[in-house]
Amino acid sequence: MNAEQRAPWLAGAKPTADITLDQQTIETLPNTYQVGPIRISPNIILAPMAGVTDSVFRRMVLGLGGCGLVSTEMTNAASVSPKALKRHRLLDFLPEERPLTMQLSGNEPDLVAAAARTVEELGADIIDINCGCPSPKITGGGHGASLLRDLPKMGRLLRAVKAAVHVPVTLKFRAGWDEESLNFLDTAKLAEDCGMAALALHPRTREQGYKGWADWSRVAAVKQHVSIPVIGSGDVTTADEALWRLHESGVDGVMIGRGAMANPWIFLQIAQLRRGDVPFEPTAADKLELLQRYLDMCLEEMPEKIALNKLKQLIGQFTVGLPGCANLRASIQRADTVPSAQEHMERFFLPHMEQSMAEAA
Ligand SMILES: Cc1cc2nc3c(=O)[nH]c(=O)nc-3n(C[C@H](O)[C@H](O)[C@H](O)COP(=O)(O)O)c2cc1C
Repeated sequence: MNAEQRAPWLAGAKPTADITLDQQTIETLPNTYQVGPIRISPNIILAPMAGVTDSVFRRMVLGLGGCGLVSTEMTNAASVSPKALKRHRLLDFLPEERPLTMQLSGNEPDLVAAAARTVEELGADIIDINCGCPSPKITGGGHGASLLRDLPKMGRLLRAVKAAVHVPVTLKFRAGWDEESLNFLDTAKLAEDCGMAALALHPRTREQGYKGWADWSRVAAVKQHVSIPVIGSGDVTTADEALWRLHESGVDGVMIGRGAMANPWIFLQIAQLRRGDVPFEPTAADKLELLQRYLDMCLEEMPEKIALNKLKQLIGQFTVGLPGCANLRASIQRADTVPSAQEHMERFFLPHMEQSMAEAA
């Protein structure tokens, strides 16, 4: 049996069943969950994304509405010490981002526990341990998804962190190292036994990376297997899909990553759909305005070159599907000053804006 026969979603297309729920069903869906004493409301949350979900991105998403919880990017526990904190941009945040999760990776229980104490002092409301990152740079050091191959060690690490802090500790993990060693149910049970307050599962394996589709039946199985809140993560890109995932998998919450880069309004749209309102559809003018606001926010916080890189990274996902987006991405990649990037954006969005005005007239 080859990998695709064992796991058809590796080759298959994203499920295309009719996923639109009627209003009566929508009203039965959960809207909150608890992480220890912290109420997460609404239960649609931003996924941690290294290089993306810094304080600026998180504030941009929160400012648009509908997002119940945000997280820092993954931070290597070895880089966290009281002395190093002042220079640690990954852990910068503002009070309006609360409740805030800070995510750590590592593989030495005592070291991760010490880092957890430090980020608790810094102001983390929740500490999340990453056991899902598939990048060879991370797994090579025994961090991230690598811990899925050594559950006893993962257990020691989770217990050490839990014992070190007062704030709730959560786990984010993948379905297993590869299709031969799927252990998401054992991992979930272990995490519950170690006192984790909630779990988030991205149901791909480490081997899958980001290929194929996330198999949400694994998320549903974890929800049945433990009694702590379970959050599902993977491939949610529309408001309909988010509510459908809540409905069909029975999870407590849905986490959105790349879908929020492509469409930062997705959280607002989900909230509107729940209320029975027509979800907001951003126009070309809204998109240009948001990109400019994001760039301005970046420029307030970081040197021009880094701000420009952040913009380039966001534009890659943000413009997916728009006619001519490949040209914009190519020209923005070449831009080496903020004014030239702004000029490319305006040149790209203006015809779209004129077209929507003509359609509206
Ligand atoms: C650019 C990028 C960076 C990511 N960084 C992290 C990270 O730092 N910590 C983590 O737990 N997951 C990380 N992830 C995984 C996401 O949190 C999420 O589980 C995954 O992308 C699937 O969700 P999506 O399809 O909604 O993006 C990252 C994903 C992407 C695309």
